[in-house]
Amino acid sequence: MNAASGAEARTIVLIGATSGLGRASALQLGAAGHRLILVGRDRGRGMSLTAQITARAPGNRRPVFIAGDISTRDGVAAVAERIKDETDAVDTLLNNAGVMSSRRVLTEEGMELNFAVHHLAPFTMTGLLLPLLARGEGRIVNTNSEGHRAALFGAGEIRLDFDDLQSERRYNPYLAYSRSKLANLLFTFEFHRRYAGFPIAAVHPGMVRTRLVRSMHRPGFWLLSTATRWMLMSPDKGGQALTELATTPVLDSGGYYDRTRLAKASPHANSRADAELLWDVSEVLRGPFTASADRRMRPDAR
Ligand SMILES: NC(=O)c1ccc[n+]([C@@H]2O[C@H](COP(=O)([O-])OP(=O)(O)OC[C@H]3O[C@@H](n4cnc5c(N)ncnc54)[C@H](OP(=O)(O)O)[C@@H]3O)[C@@H](O)[C@H]2O)c1
Repeated sequence: MNAASGAEARTIVLIGATSGLGRASALQLGAAGHRLILVGRDRGRGMSLTAQITARAPGNRRPVFIAGDISTRDGVAAVAERIKDETDAVDTLLNNAGVMSSRRVLTEEGMELNFAVHHLAPFTMTGLLLPLLARGEGRIVNTNSEGHRAALFGAGEIRLDFDDLQSERRYNPYLAYSRSKLANLLFTFEFHRRYAGFPIAAVHPGMVRTRLVRSMHRPGFWLLSTATRWMLMSPDKGGQALTELATTPVLDSGGYYDRTRLAKASPHANSRADAELLWDVSEVLRGPFTASADRRMRPDAR
């Protein structure tokens, strides 16, 4: 990638930057001269990442690292406040944080972890940062997954179960992961319908060798992931898809990308009724999407 000149340099907020795809993309974006605000829970990895970016391109602006946990509403709000201390305009928000867990984990606010990190966090972060996005290019890229379509081990059809969004009745890790990615995709498409002034896309980055599966302690999964590890992409290659969508001059807003190519999302992801219902439920769980009264930030008349 060519280095971005002063005017081309974007202000990019990357959530989930301390590992895997996010880390690789942060290194690429930093080398290209973009202004980075990086978020992750692990301060040590965050600080070593900013040092590495600075060492590779000493002339570029030093990235900012914010340590925070976005699994709760309060956690997202605290990170958003810190972002507001650093900038008043955001060109790209990359909602990339991800988890996989073999057992059902609840956040401090009692939300199932996959649903909280993959859907509620991007929903809340995007809403809270909308005023900053409105002062920049205002692009949102959500790291999604082909898992939104079909779960590993054929764990069942992927559609939202509005009677059991928190997987209380039955927890299956693959199903919970896939459904939360479907929720994130429904949010992406619904945001596009409501806020046409902000470019938004979701991306499947490919199958990539990362730390995502570190909490998966099932023998079948362990065997499969060990046997297929050699087939997976490097984080650097996977991160290139995020880097490209975060910065390309031409983004197909409202699109679902398989890496850098537009792709068809599953039929359930295109359910407008599910998307609207999910938006309403998310506002019940998290409060109004945005408090801003700015014109650009008002939902388009539907
Ligand atoms: N790897 C694949 O093959 C693949 C395929 C499709 C989609 N994806 C998606 O790609 C994204 C990145 O995953 P990855 O594979 O790169 O996994 P990873 O190596 O485990 O990285 C996950 C990142 O998310 C951060 N994170 C997780 N929970 C967080 C929380 N509560 N608060 C703040 N940050 C949090 C982690 O920070 P910490 O350092 O604090 O843990 C880390 O920076 C995920 O959305 C994942 O679903 C991955």
